[in-house]
Amino acid sequence: MILETIFKPFKKDPTVKRHLLKTVSWRVVGTLDTILLGSLITGKLTIGAKIGGFELLTKMFLYFLHERAWHRVNFGLPTRFKKAEIVKKENAGNLFLQTSKVDRSQREQLNENKSFTIWLTGLSGAGKSTIASELDSWFFANGLRSYIVDGDNTRLGINSDLSFSKEDRGENIRRVAEICKLFNDAGIIIIASFISPFIDDRLAAKNIIGGDDFIEVFADASIETCKSRDTKGLYKLAECGKIKNFTGIDSPYERPAVPDIHLLTDLESVDNCVGKIIDFLSKVQVDTTGAFGTQLYGIIKNNTANTLNAKIWIGIDIPSRGDRRREYHSYLLKNMLEAK
Ligand code: ADX
Repeated sequence: MILETIFKPFKKDPTVKRHLLKTVSWRVVGTLDTILLGSLITGKLTIGAKIGGFELLTKMFLYFLHERAWHRVNFGLPTRFKKAEIVKKENAGNLFLQTSKVDRSQREQLNENKSFTIWLTGLSGAGKSTIASELDSWFFANGLRSYIVDGDNTRLGINSDLSFSKEDRGENIRRVAEICKLFNDAGIIIIASFISPFIDDRLAAKNIIGGDDFIEVFADASIETCKSRDTKGLYKLAECGKIKNFTGIDSPYERPAVPDIHLLTDLESVDNCVGKIIDFLSKVQVDTTGAFGTQLYGIIKNNTANTLNAKIWIGIDIPSRGDRRREYHSYLLKNMLEAK
């Protein structure tokens, strides 16, 4: 029990062990130096040894405290960003972009959809994941290739080394934006669901993914609504100080000034929100030549049923495969109508 109490700080924070070892190693060097200097100045080895002996206890203690205090101060330490800049410079000229024989538009044609990223931002509990999931199901049901990249999931995997400090959130968004970019390049529609509370980070994500492929969707619910929902029980923990840097409690959320789509998730239903996104996509410039002409971008939709059950068309209609696709959509619509 006593041993467990003594060794607890070592288990919790490995830097304690490092600082303790540094304390001992420095004291060996320091004490030998004091004994030498004390002996030289006084001409007596015993006096030097006595001073060294006294120092051993007091200075060891002070040195350890001093190290622990500095450990809490970030001053002078290179930020993650600075370190990345240094590595980037080191690697400059040694890395070469590899290309594939198959390009993005060919993959989009094979998938029969245009690829882009729908970026959902908003407070925890604003409904991002629910909307993402419904939208993804809708894409799937309509034969479009989509995938959700979600904050909780990526933080359980590739980003499990990141905290919720401002700097780490920036790195979180940078990494996932790179992932979205790769998926888009593979011809997949991405629904990204991240609090992404800082304007600069969202802008950085847009720059990585590309302005034309980035659709910013603001899931806007008041902090009061999110707190009252508290589906994960995290607001309660944050309010009593058990979770630090919680967005909306002790960490800010910077609202998007002009999102592409603004969802009022505490007032509108999930179906409504998803419908708004689909409406937006259908309004993206469409180049149609004839009824089912070559469609370069966007959705053509036949709003016969409600928005979610509508016969839809996103992306590219390839003449050679168009018939099969049309048949597929008629089949879907028939089934949907019959099911009613
Ligand atoms: S972001 O701010 O870096 O974009 P991200 O979307 O990846 O956050 O992760 C948010 C999820 O982490 C929330 O849904 C919540 O479940 C969980 N979480 C844990 N701690 C925090 C915190 N301090 N602030 C916000 N979310 C947190």
